[in-house]
Amino acid sequence: MDAGLKLRGIVAGYGQGDILRGLDLDVPAGQITCLIGPNGSGKSTVLRVISGLLAPRAGQVRLAGRNVTGWSPWAMLDGGVAHVPQERSLFPAMSVWDNVLMGAYINADRDAVARRATDIAQRFPLVARRRRDLAGSLSGGEQKTVEIARSMMLDPPVLCFDEPSIGLEPRARRTIFGILAELRRDGRTVLLVEQNARSGLAVADNGAVLDAGIVRLAAPASQLLDSPDVGRLYLGAS
Ligand SMILES: Nc1ncnc2c1ncn2[C@@H]1O[C@H](COP(=O)(O)OP(=O)(O)OP(=O)(O)O)[C@@H](O)[C@H]1O
Ligand SMILES: [Mg+2]
Repeated sequence: MDAGLKLRGIVAGYGQGDILRGLDLDVPAGQITCLIGPNGSGKSTVLRVISGLLAPRAGQVRLAGRNVTGWSPWAMLDGGVAHVPQERSLFPAMSVWDNVLMGAYINADRDAVARRATDIAQRFPLVARRRRDLAGSLSGGEQKTVEIARSMMLDPPVLCFDEPSIGLEPRARRTIFGILAELRRDGRTVLLVEQNARSGLAVADNGAVLDAGIVRLAAPASQLLDSPDVGRLYLGAS
């Protein structure tokens, strides 16, 4: 399946104001695309539009060539798009295992869900090891890993990650980036929003720079990393 995303002319915001002002973005199938941009430029808003949490006022979202604009979060999840939000999203008073099971809450077949969770636990040893612990007792990096494990429960071809490495120390960050690379090796499509633009672009195939609600620049990630202008304007001093 060509699980690519295409956004065209997206206008979206909260209340009266527009945050995205005619945004175009391509997220090619089977690759990692990294979206960078300053705080408040609308990166999380782009992910909310894709996952159906925020309906755009204008423009189109296309998934695998199909117009999915305005679909509900449930329909997008069912259609194969997972979203790991920026803020912590585990239920802290529930066990790690129950949190992972929640990733498949739209699937009523409990046996199939339990089997899938067992597969996931093989891939994420942390989930197996800490399955009985309360999610709230895990470190920030461990919680993020469990969130990613949970997002895999429906075997989504497309995953959107909102600053998965924020606040993590280098080793935990490397673990998260390693997981992203593995998802790409599976052939999945990944849209990554990353505050640390250099690390994000380093793991990505494509890069896009969001500025004031539009994509100003889209190019192969290596090209953005090598461009002195992009470095000066968007990546900070190296
Ligand atoms: N629920 C909301 N209600 C009203 N305004 C919001 C809401 N969420 C975000 N905004 C505003 O929309 C703008 C873009 O926010 P968004 O979270 O998409 O930015 P961002 O690029 O993800 O920033 P950051 O790098 O800080 O995560 C900001 O000015 C923010 O204040
Ligand atoms: Mg954000």
